[in-house]
Amino acid sequence: MEIIIRSSPEEAATTVADVVEPYVRRGNTVLGLATGSSPVAAYGELARRHREDGLDFASLSTFLLDEYIGLPEGHPETYFAVIRRDFVDHVNLDPQRVHSPNGNSDDVFGEGARYDAAIRAAGGVDVQFLGIGTDGHLGFNEPTSSLSSRTRVKTLTDRTRKDNARFFDSEADVPRHVLTQGLGTILEARHLVMVATGSAKASAIAKAVEGPLSAFCPASVMQLHPHCTVVLDEAAAAELTLTDYYKSVVANKPPQQPW
Ligand code: F6R
Repeated sequence: MEIIIRSSPEEAATTVADVVEPYVRRGNTVLGLATGSSPVAAYGELARRHREDGLDFASLSTFLLDEYIGLPEGHPETYFAVIRRDFVDHVNLDPQRVHSPNGNSDDVFGEGARYDAAIRAAGGVDVQFLGIGTDGHLGFNEPTSSLSSRTRVKTLTDRTRKDNARFFDSEADVPRHVLTQGLGTILEARHLVMVATGSAKASAIAKAVEGPLSAFCPASVMQLHPHCTVVLDEAAAAELTLTDYYKSVVANKPPQQPW
């Protein structure tokens, strides 16, 4: 795991864009997208590179991590709508190749297996954006999620519903159920790129990065992944203990070593 600590959320976003850009330039990449606030600035930076430097997304396919169950189609807080607003509408991604789990499926319990099969058929995710919940969730895999889980229906914790109430009129409007890629599904992506900023994430980051591997902190499953980049600002890194080492690794990174 490579831990990159930047002095501000803006610098963290630039670093995330730097890590992802070579995959976009390569073409035919399968990009895994996260929603929520954490990746928004990095999406903005990638969109700027599209606008100003011609960074070309035309050949890419994308898969979202998760989706609420039961929000009416067209609701502005479905992750289907959010990712269009935050990213897809600002680059030249083909909307036909922007995939998300169908939270309104008639067969919501069969939807997970269909979604995993679609990811597989596309060749698997090359690079996966990730955020982290204050309770350590990854995707919407809440504490005690199986570390080998597949895409499926999950129930949100009250804490997550409280955290996400800011996007809705009230906490009661936040759906209780979601479809989320499983932790086993997420681990199959070839490169994981997590971004976390702000002090509210400091405790979850410390547990995920330096704590024991545990289903009680689902994001700790990143420790099993062979290629995982964690990009933080100082506030999100505040409860880590080996900070000087992480900084010296980045400062002394061999020039030819890719992210
Ligand atoms: C969203 C997702 C979640 C969020 C997490 C953090 O697709 O999978 O795990 O990344 O809830 O949300 P923010 O970034 O809003 O703090």
